[in-house]
This record gives sequence, structure tokens and C-alpha cells, in this order.
Amino acid sequence: MACLSSVQVRGGNSSQFEFPKLRGSNCGRSINRVGFKVFASESKQEPDLSVTVNGLHMPNPFVIGSGPPGTNYTVMKRAFDEGWGAVIAKTVSLDASKVVNVTPRYARLRVGGVNGSVKGQIIGWENIELISDRPLETMLKEFKQLKREYPDRILIASIMEEYDRGAWEELIDRVEESGVDAIEINFSCPHGMPERKMGAAVGQDCALLEEVCGWINAKATIPVWAKMTPNITDITQPAKVALSTGCEGIAAINTIMSVMGINLTTLRPEPCVEGYSTPGGYSCKAVHPIALGKVMRIAQMMKSEFGDKDYSLSGIGGVETGGDAAEFILLGANTVQVCTGVMMHGYGLVTKLCDELKDFMRKHNFTSIEDFRGVSLPYFTTHTDLVKRQQEAIRQRKAIKQGLQSDKDWTGDGFVKETESMVSNN
Ligand SMILES: Cc1cc2nc3c(=O)[nH]c(=O)nc-3n(C[C@H](O)[C@H](O)[C@H](O)COP(=O)(O)O)c2cc1C
Repeated sequence: MACLSSVQVRGGNSSQFEFPKLRGSNCGRSINRVGFKVFASESKQEPDLSVTVNGLHMPNPFVIGSGPPGTNYTVMKRAFDEGWGAVIAKTVSLDASKVVNVTPRYARLRVGGVNGSVKGQIIGWENIELISDRPLETMLKEFKQLKREYPDRILIASIMEEYDRGAWEELIDRVEESGVDAIEINFSCPHGMPERKMGAAVGQDCALLEEVCGWINAKATIPVWAKMTPNITDITQPAKVALSTGCEGIAAINTIMSVMGINLTTLRPEPCVEGYSTPGGYSCKAVHPIALGKVMRIAQMMKSEFGDKDYSLSGIGGVETGGDAAEFILLGANTVQVCTGVMMHGYGLVTKLCDELKDFMRKHNFTSIEDFRGVSLPYFTTHTDLVKRQQEAIRQRKAIKQGLQSDKDWTGDGFVKETESMVSNN
């Protein structure tokens, strides 16, 4: 297989940019956790979507994110049958009798509806759903059955407990005994559970997180991923704590604390339960750019602080296309989770995701996920550096800046056009 020294990005405005020079050779490459290599091939080899993450082999990087699509045997079996790379079950705790859900518990944000009569595209989704309300014993039995029927497929338990070392240890023992391949720790549910000092209440407090991660990692014998909340100023801090205390991977993001809206007829907030509401977690397409921002920061931190160690990153938030997934991978993610997308489009979505990701890979002659994982990360820099780069580009090209030259040039009449003149991705 021939290795190219650089790859021209095709399509769009990107044709002026070149990928960085290949480090080493494609042949005999070393696999880096948050790797930033380009391995392009001249051959027309069919793209291979399979990934191996913390020793877990998956046919593709698409993972069912913890939530309704992983609530019971029937739906998890369906996910495996449709071809999802792995399944993360709905979060479980020791005592499900403390978990009491309400309905309705979802509210959606649409755009593009006309006169309120034609329903527009759903871009945002709020939920006030708690963790699994099914008895732990039942869930564990179903994990066992799934692993019996699908021994080669990856099943990950998502767990959450109260601030009690014994409870965490018991829960870890029991889920490991069920035969799951890995554990994701839900340090991130923003609603309901923090009232019991669970979920985001731990993920937002680095001292507490360090202690709890210490308990978990002393006990667990299978890979542990820590799922991060975006509802924190600097997401790299808890991510660093989780990796320093022994977690094998980071998953980001869980939902964003939100209020979906107020019904302008009833004057009551949504989602509305008996006339009242409580802030919930926001997901779907609208959160994708926020999730990319958080994953980018975590990937930078992982590269600078944990460099060549065997850690993994799972990108989550608003994935509905292969392109959405490619973006997470280009920032350094090994896998990509989907939750709301499955609730909207069904389990068959994975076929479209795989096809679209393969199309993207063919377009760039990438034959494996590692070929492009982390490739876009080096293109983030400081604003000061952007100014320097632009000044240098203008000097070299004797060109002028696109759009307004200064804030004094904005006008009232041309305001919208002036705004448009400075957009980069029209
Ligand atoms: C209805 C609903 C329930 C969820 N339940 C859980 C859960 O039990 N545990 C968890 O870790 N994340 C849970 N999540 C968060 C998702 O796994 C995911 O992190 C988030 O929704 C962003 O991804 P998405 O835009 O693909 O949904 C839930 C999300 C939704 C929409």
C-alpha cells in the first residue's frame, strides 16, 4: 500500500489546505490513543470501519448511547441485529425502587415550521427521564442473556450510585458478574439524580470525583469509561481526574441543563407534568457543536497530558449522519455514541451512518478509522495566533481580509449582508 506524504482536502473551501506530513510510515504504524496522523492510501481498498478500543473489538465505531435505546433485552438485541458496533445499556443502580419516572418526560424543539401548521425539523430534545427504573436483577439477567447470544458483540453497562464505597463496589461486582465487556460511569445526568448526590453532582466536583473514581478503579477488573457532564466551566478538569485515577476512557457529553420553553397558551413550562416542570437535559442536533467543543478540549488535554497512553475517547451529542460522526473522530474520538438519533430514526439508522462514514472515507482515500482519527485537532490554536497567521497571509498574498475591515464599518442598512460577508461555511 503506497503512503502519501500529504493529502489535499477535497471539496468545499478546503482545497487550499494541506494535511500535515505523515509521521513515519503507514506500514508498521503505531496506534496512538488520541492519534493525529494521516495515513492516506492510493489503493482503492474498501474502507474498514472496525475499531479496537481498550481491547474491545467493534465492527464499527457506532455505539448506542445510554438511554431509552438500551433499556431492555428486546431493544438491545435489536441494536445488535441492526449492526451497532456496541451497546451501552441504560444506567442502572442498586435500588431501582428509588427511581420513579414521570410522563410526559420529553419536549422537542423544531425549526422551519410554517404558521405553526406544518411541523418543522426536530433539532433539540429535552428529557427529564431518570436512570433505569427496572430492578437491577432483571437488567443483569438480560445482560447475561445478551452476552450468551452475542458473545462477540460489545455490551457495556452504565452505572451510577450514591456516595457510598460499599454500594459502588457491590454494583461493580454484580455488573461484572453478568459478563459485560466494560463499564461506563454516569457522572453526568443533570436532573433528578443530583438531588440524591448522584450523576452530575459527582462529575461537577473534582474532589468527590477523585475519591469515587479511586473506589471504582480499585474494584473494577474490566475497562471503565467516565461519562462527563458539559454542565461545568472546564470539562478537562474532571476528565483529567478520571484518567489520573485509572479510568481507561472518557465519554462526552451527557445532556446540557435546559428549559425547553414555555407554552404561550397555558403559560406553563415544557415538558409539562401536571402543570409543572423541572429543568432537564438537552440533546439532539442543536447540541452537536457544543459537544464538538467539549470533545476537542478533552482530546487536546489527553494528547498533552497523557500522550502515548492507552486511553480512549467516545464522542456523544447530536449525531444523525456519518459526517457528524466523522467530525468527532477527526477531533480524536475512537467511538461515537448515538441516543436521541435512535429515538427519532430507529435502530436502522446505523446502516445510514456506516454508509455515510464510508463515503467520507472513500472521498479522502482513508481505509481505516485510525487513518483520520485526530487529524483536525492540530488546527485549533489561540486567537492571537490566528491574527498573526492572517496578517502573514495578507502580507504574502497582498490581499485584503474578507468582509469588514473594522467594527467602524458596520452599517444599519447593510447589516445582514455585512454579517454574511464574514461567514466561513456558507
Ligand atoms: C431520553 C434520554 C435518556 C437518557 N438517559 C441516560 C442515561 O440513563 N444514562 C446516561 O449516561 N445518559 C443518558 N442520556 C444521555 C445520552 O446518552 C447522551 O449523552 C445525550 O443525549 C447526548 O447524545 P444524543 O444527542 O445522541 O442524544 C439520555 C438521553 C436522553 C435523550
